[in-house]
Amino acid sequence: MLLDLGEAVPGGVGENSSLVAYSIVCQHMGCPVGYKKQDKHFMCPCHQTLYDPARGGYVIQGVAQRPLPRVQLEVDGDDIIAVGVEGLIFGYRDNLAPGEKVA
Ligand code: FES
Repeated sequence: MLLDLGEAVPGGVGENSSLVAYSIVCQHMGCPVGYKKQDKHFMCPCHQTLYDPARGGYVIQGVAQRPLPRVQLEVDGDDIIAVGVEGLIFGYRDNLAPGEKVA
C-alpha cells in the first residue's frame, strides 16, 4: 500500500519525503492490515496489532514480532517505482529479487 503521510518521514521519498509503501500482510499470522488515516497507523483486524508507517512499519502494540515489510520506492518524474522490499513478507521463504517476474 502506497501512502502519502503528509510530512517528511525517515526513508520517505518524493518532493516532501512523505511517500512510503508497505506490504499489508500482517507479520503475526498473515491477515490483511488496514490503514487508519485519522490515527496514521496500520491496524490488523485479527488480533489488533498496530504498525507505524512513519517509523519503518514498526510494531506500536500487539502480538506481531516483526515490522511490516517496507517497499523500497524510487521516484522518476511522475512515476513512483517499487524497486524492492525490506524484510520478509509473511508466508514467504524469500522475496522476489529485483527485476524478477512473478510466475
Ligand atoms: S494476524 Fe495480525 S495481529 Fe494476528
